[in-house]
Amino acid sequence: MTQRINKIVLAYSGGLDTSVMIKWLKEKYQAEIIAVAADLGQGKELVNLEEKAINTGASKIYIEDLREDFINEYIFPALAANAIYEGKYLLATSLSRPLIAERLVEIALIEKADALAHGCTGKGNDQVRFETAFYTLAPYLKIIAPARTWEFKSREEEIVYAQKHQIPINVTKKSPYSIDRNLWGVSIECGLLEDPWVEPPKNAYQITISPQEAPDKPEYLEVYFEEGKPVGINEKEKMKGIKLIECLNTIGGKHGIGRVDMVEDRLVGIKSREIYEAPAATILYKAHKELESLVLDRETLYFKEIISQKYSHLIYQGLWFTPLKDSLDAFIKKTQEKVSGKVRLKLYKGVAEVVGRHSENSLYDQKLATYDEGDLFDHKAAEGFIKLWSLPYQKTGKNI
Ligand code: ARG
Repeated sequence: MTQRINKIVLAYSGGLDTSVMIKWLKEKYQAEIIAVAADLGQGKELVNLEEKAINTGASKIYIEDLREDFINEYIFPALAANAIYEGKYLLATSLSRPLIAERLVEIALIEKADALAHGCTGKGNDQVRFETAFYTLAPYLKIIAPARTWEFKSREEEIVYAQKHQIPINVTKKSPYSIDRNLWGVSIECGLLEDPWVEPPKNAYQITISPQEAPDKPEYLEVYFEEGKPVGINEKEKMKGIKLIECLNTIGGKHGIGRVDMVEDRLVGIKSREIYEAPAATILYKAHKELESLVLDRETLYFKEIISQKYSHLIYQGLWFTPLKDSLDAFIKKTQEKVSGKVRLKLYKGVAEVVGRHSENSLYDQKLATYDEGDLFDHKAAEGFIKLWSLPYQKTGKNI
């Protein structure tokens, strides 16, 4: 006989799926439902959530402001790693999942719950990220993913169920897209976007203006870093994490920065078309990388590119709480010791272009680089250098 489940902790957003899920889980398992909603900077969605969850049948709701943790423990490490998936996606959604999962587990332990539940479908990456984290952090807890097994085949069927059970839902017109938003960016899929040939319609984008409609005048911006972390914008006015990222999202969004349209490889083996908006993330990624190119030596830079790619895969594939991730963090942390300074960017019609960089730890030496007077580079030494550099190929090469 399978063990009875008495208490379930559910990752709850207040949307149709997870609202229906509260009732559905409660009926199916005759269990108490604890809803958990996480604030990761998604905007207004958390208003009235408590009332909604309780009216739907949850016995309790935790509304957790995880924004600081998200920035310090997820966003900044990903930035230090220059993590970007398949060269385009700055991983806003992927990064948020292990954090939410960890909090769910913590609450399950506080509440002495015996199961964890989430609203992800059987086709996406998020189910893998949540459940891999659950299994890693608390393998003794049961996992329930109703959306993989329940009887509803469409949104309409869920609405009928909600009405039958007096579940309060906003049956306002649903956005034609599936949208996930947090401080690090917005992920948008479904609807028209499922055809990879179709250009994303204007209304698909949430936080950026189209580059065509962006101001005709460029805007300059300076971003300050200390040991790989952004600590200020312009005139070194110190800005705390949340404010700094929100501010860059606003400024970048106004200039149409950070839009991405891509076909990506999901963990479950399929390709999917998704569009992203990540103004702050794009600006910070570019600026951070640029500063690294000024202060890191060539071999460290090259090696770090390999690490970046691996790190982006670990994030995307839900392998956050793993030994390899910890080891890569140790490497990355060491590389960031010298990544302090400032980067100047020009924002203009969808592009954030780096136009200046400065650091006390700069390895750039103008006396060696100059083609003007004052050149200290030993030109004669180049002759011997090239002879030895090419020596192996004098033997293996294509003598004619
Ligand atoms: N494809 C992205 C990822 O796996 C985002 C997934 C969530 N997207 C959404 N529109 N609900 O990280």
